Amino acid sequence: MESEDNLLNVFLLLLFGSLFTTVGPSAPEEGWQVYSSAQDSEGRCVCTVVAPQQTVCSRDARTKQLRQLLEKVLYSNCYYNNMLLMDILLIPLSRNMSQSIEVLDQRTQRDLQFVEKMEEQVKGLENKFKQVEDGHESNIARQYKSIKVKMEELRPLIPVLEAYKADALLVRQFKEEVANVTELLGSLQEQMGGLDYQELHGRVMNLEDRLRACMQRLACGKLTGISEPVTIKSSGSRFGSWMTDPLAPTGDNRVWYMDGYHNNRFVREYQSMYDFMTTDNFTSHRLPHPWSGTGQVVYNGSIYFNKFQSHTIIKFDFSTSLISRSRQLDFAGYNNMYHYSWGGHSDIDLMVDEGGLWAVYATNQNAGNIVLSQLNPNSLQIIRSWTTNHPKRSAGEAFMICGTLYVTNGYSGGTKVYYAYSTNSSTYEYIDIPLTNKYSHLSMLDYNPRDRALYAWNNGHQVLYNVTLYHIIQ
Ligand SMILES: *[C@@H]1O[C@H](CO)[C@@H](O)[C@H](O)[C@H]1NC(C)=O
Ligand SMILES: *[C@@H]1O[C@H](CO)[C@@H](O)[C@H](O)[C@H]1NC(C)=O
Ligand SMILES: *[C@@H]1O[C@H](CO)[C@@H](O)[C@H](O)[C@H]1NC(C)=O
Ligand SMILES: *[C@@H]1O[C@H](CO)[C@@H](O)[C@H](O)[C@H]1NC(C)=O
Ligand SMILES: *[C@@H]1O[C@H](CO)[C@@H](O)[C@H](O)[C@H]1NC(C)=O
Ligand SMILES: *[C@@H]1O[C@H](CO)[C@@H](O)[C@H](O)[C@H]1NC(C)=O
Repeated sequence: MESEDNLLNVFLLLLFGSLFTTVGPSAPEEGWQVYSSAQDSEGRCVCTVVAPQQTVCSRDARTKQLRQLLEKVLYSNCYYNNMLLMDILLIPLSRNMSQSIEVLDQRTQRDLQFVEKMEEQVKGLENKFKQVEDGHESNIARQYKSIKVKMEELRPLIPVLEAYKADALLVRQFKEEVANVTELLGSLQEQMGGLDYQELHGRVMNLEDRLRACMQRLACGKLTGISEPVTIKSSGSRFGSWMTDPLAPTGDNRVWYMDGYHNNRFVREYQSMYDFMTTDNFTSHRLPHPWSGTGQVVYNGSIYFNKFQSHTIIKFDFSTSLISRSRQLDFAGYNNMYHYSWGGHSDIDLMVDEGGLWAVYATNQNAGNIVLSQLNPNSLQIIRSWTTNHPKRSAGEAFMICGTLYVTNGYSGGTKVYYAYSTNSSTYEYIDIPLTNKYSHLSMLDYNPRDRALYAWNNGHQVLYNVTLYHIIQ
């Protein structure tokens, strides 16, 4: 018994060591499910693994034992390995491309080596089992046989492993392309005009797109859970918004704070989350116009907000204290025409996810239902719009994660996220993810892709929630 456990332990360590960085199986209901949550202070990420249904339901004592063992092993490995996920998520937002590739490559190579070694070991183990089985009809053989059955249950993880190898190949290709482009750039300097700039430019763009897509695939996921809230501070009125900039450079941890939903144009800047929590030491920025609602967002050093009593969106640059762009969001209702259910001129809600800047609003054309538009953060022009069938006025709040819009069912009392609209597939589904509404009045709820957290303003309290995303590699 003891030695069997040890054997299993070794085996599972080998098998699971590298997998949690990337993955869920392609058919979640049959296979293993891997969830990861926001990182802790050291940038690590906690993750949970759910075993396949047949294992969960089994009442067999041995199976239970195996599960306990699995949980122990998985948990520790997962925790360590999910550093990779978090790094990848951060890179495209904060660093330049060659750095990104380098880090991605380092991590992938390291993990790939692990995977390859593991494969060898699995094969070795399988052979060993076979030998023992063929050799004797002894008690030991029967024990080994039972382990082998357990091993069969782990089969669903093999395709996951394959997906991982495919990603490593992608990284190798990126690297080669970058080397090629760099070389081209070098020779371009020497023989100006000798190369087609347009073509070169196209290649760099294409490369960047593919890299971004690859990273997105590794880091993004579907929302499956929201943690209990953590109260960061208690201040301000019932309504307001607060946030950090998901594109802020490393070391810039400033917190932005806007009390109220109208009649105010002062944005507070705190130096750090710690300052925000512990002091009332802030700098004030006076906006050229008062804002409307609580849908503002700080993105790449600028605040984007809805000018009061209009459907004008303003981009205000904090470093120059100037409006850098202003544009009307055509057809968007305003002035409490299509507010969220709590009211407060919350007609236009701006937000940011892994894919960029978004506006959530409603139009007469769409019968007061939510319209979702992706905006160019520089020109504020609409890149693309999606029309949903969800009435804006019966939505509590809405936020975007990985290109999916999530809508809550209300702002007071028991709250849950119950509607999800995917821009990728232009389809919606009803879901049921509880959201603890600790202070009974939610007037702002937004996702920050850097922290992988939800920022909320709950009745004069500023709270954070971790989110759990489920990663699927096709
Ligand atoms: C999110 O998870 C991390 C890691 O477990 C933890 O340190 C942090 O306090 C959590 N934050 C919230 C808001 O729950
Ligand atoms: C990108 O990062 C690399 C590595 O740190 C650095 O050498 C390079 O100058 C950076 N390029 C730009 C455009 O910032
Ligand atoms: C890079 O250049 C080499 C030599 O010109 C070529 O064989 C290779 O296909 C190129 N790689 C990519 C990914 O374009
Ligand atoms: C307040 O913040 C400023 C910088 O923003 C700092 O120089 C000053 O020491 C802080 N004061 C207190 C009391 O923390
Ligand atoms: C962020 O701003 C910098 C300069 O202010 C700009 O170069 C960069 O492209 C911006 N990033 C994004 C994603 O808009
Ligand atoms: C978009 O949806 C298609 C089909 O449902 C899926 O194959 C693809 O992986 C999705 N892409 C992203 C980025 O989620």
